Amino acid sequence: MKWGPLAFLVLSLLIKSHALSNKNNRTETFKVFRVYPQSWQHIETLAEIRKISEEENEIDFWLDSRQPGQFADIMVAPRAQSYFMDLLMKHDLQFKTTIDDVEKMIYENEHHIKNDDKPHVLDENYENLMHYENFRFRKRLKDEPSKFGDRPFEKVGQARANYPFGQYTDYATMVRYMRTIEFYYPHIAKLIRIGTSHEGQPIEGLKLGYHVSNTSKPGFWIDGNIHAREWASSHTALFIINQLVSGYGKDPVVTYYMNKMNFFIIPCLNPDGYEYSRSSAWPEIRLWRKNRSPERCAPSRWGGIRCCSGVDLNRNFDFHWSESGANHHPCSNEYVGESPFSEPESR
Ligand SMILES: *[C@@H]1O[C@H](CO)[C@@H](O)[C@H](O)[C@H]1NC(C)=O
Ligand SMILES: *[C@@H]1O[C@H](CO)[C@@H](O)[C@H](O)[C@H]1NC(C)=O
Repeated sequence: MKWGPLAFLVLSLLIKSHALSNKNNRTETFKVFRVYPQSWQHIETLAEIRKISEEENEIDFWLDSRQPGQFADIMVAPRAQSYFMDLLMKHDLQFKTTIDDVEKMIYENEHHIKNDDKPHVLDENYENLMHYENFRFRKRLKDEPSKFGDRPFEKVGQARANYPFGQYTDYATMVRYMRTIEFYYPHIAKLIRIGTSHEGQPIEGLKLGYHVSNTSKPGFWIDGNIHAREWASSHTALFIINQLVSGYGKDPVVTYYMNKMNFFIIPCLNPDGYEYSRSSAWPEIRLWRKNRSPERCAPSRWGGIRCCSGVDLNRNFDFHWSESGANHHPCSNEYVGESPFSEPESR
């Protein structure tokens, strides 16, 4: 039994080095192209490409161009690259590759932690950070977390429950944080569970306010991470929770609104998609947008039948369902689903 953990360590090192050598040796990579339209004709060609990109998730506009002289940045999946470049050349559109391997860039950004590259978080949080299993997913915030505009974070303070603001944690850590908030602040916080995801994860949030069970108070709804890859949004919602509970009774603005209304905050509306997007740096996974509903199949532009899972939850509500920015191809990033509210998360 004694060598069990060691064997596990060796095995996981082997798996890791195997994965790394594959990584350095990948011939097919997601690339980002910068395209320079010079005429309205070129803009039309880009619009055509955009139409293709909406149908299947092979071409992703990171930055669009609406007029000549304005460049576009476009990420293209391996299997669409020759088609994409042929199309550009046929229409005499100039371009260059700005990112040769998107996966490599993501991976290096997240794993290469230099000594002088300590996270810009409060020191006491830094110790906490080290204890999280998902430490390798820690990502520095670009801003200084202690300053928000002209209003220092310390003025409001930190809630009694600790959340490692400064990294992107897993969903379980978010839920644990909210349950701890409810434990320490029962007079102003109540855990709410609005449903269960496709994969069976509870979709939880907090209802916050003074006299939190008074249903006559106006409600203020905040949800985050309806799109899996929008990690910053769930963490912003969690930070709002911190500000509201720690500011209540101290900050006059926070106290006023907590007395006047109830806040319903669901930090992560799409936990399945969020966890999926965290599971790999491969751009198809890391930049996942939809939920994780079962696969559906449809003919593919690139030949044969293609099956894809997931529905764009933000296109699945019954309000003006399937009107704008919606797509009926299951492989589209904006796939609307089979019917309004077909998905448990949007329901
Ligand atoms: C790349 O992969 C091939 C086949 O899997 C292998 O033989 C080769 O040694 C690898 N090259 C590098 C630089 O890792
Ligand atoms: C409930 O909230 C309403 C609206 O703010 C308020 O008028 C009322 O007095 C509150 N009721 C209780 C019991 O606090």
